[in-house]
Amino acid sequence: MTNRKLLQTAAALALLVAAAPALAYDADWKRGRIYYRSVCTSCHVALPVGSINPSSKTKAEWGAYLQADRHAKGKDKVSQYVGQAYRNSIKASNKAAEKFVAVPDPELADDLKAFLLKGAKDGDAPASCS
Ligand code: HEC
Repeated sequence: MTNRKLLQTAAALALLVAAAPALAYDADWKRGRIYYRSVCTSCHVALPVGSINPSSKTKAEWGAYLQADRHAKGKDKVSQYVGQAYRNSIKASNKAAEKFVAVPDPELADDLKAFLLKGAKDGDAPASCS
């Protein structure tokens, strides 16, 4: 290999390494918002719990809440309601669940998180639930 070739190879490798993080999933907060408002909120308003505004918690509180993955005082999990199995079970009566039925669970979970953090009390755009 000539020196020039070596340099070219090194430059190509450096580019690859620099580009790697771009391959990570880029969360879609708008999809998260649709899901939160159509799936999460539609259940909350139908139950005595009532609507839960994203702006009712700080970013740190939402982060910890999602990380703990304990929903309804630990009765079940938040991840369960983002999951494909749940979307499948309600898709006949819920348009958002039907629309996003094929989205991989980790992607939708990231979308939801992006929306909740953006809409948090101290987020970029504090949001209500509807
Ligand atoms: C099938 C109904 C239902 C769905 C769907 C649902 N929730 Fe809930 N959620 C509840 C109920 C009921 C409570 C209140 C539990 C209590 O206070 O005992 C609750 C409470 C909460 C709370 C208050 C803290 C807690 O856990 O008690 C948050 C935050 C929350 N839900 C977030 C979500 C998010 C995010 C989603 C969507 C991914 C979601 N919920 C989907 C029924 C639902």
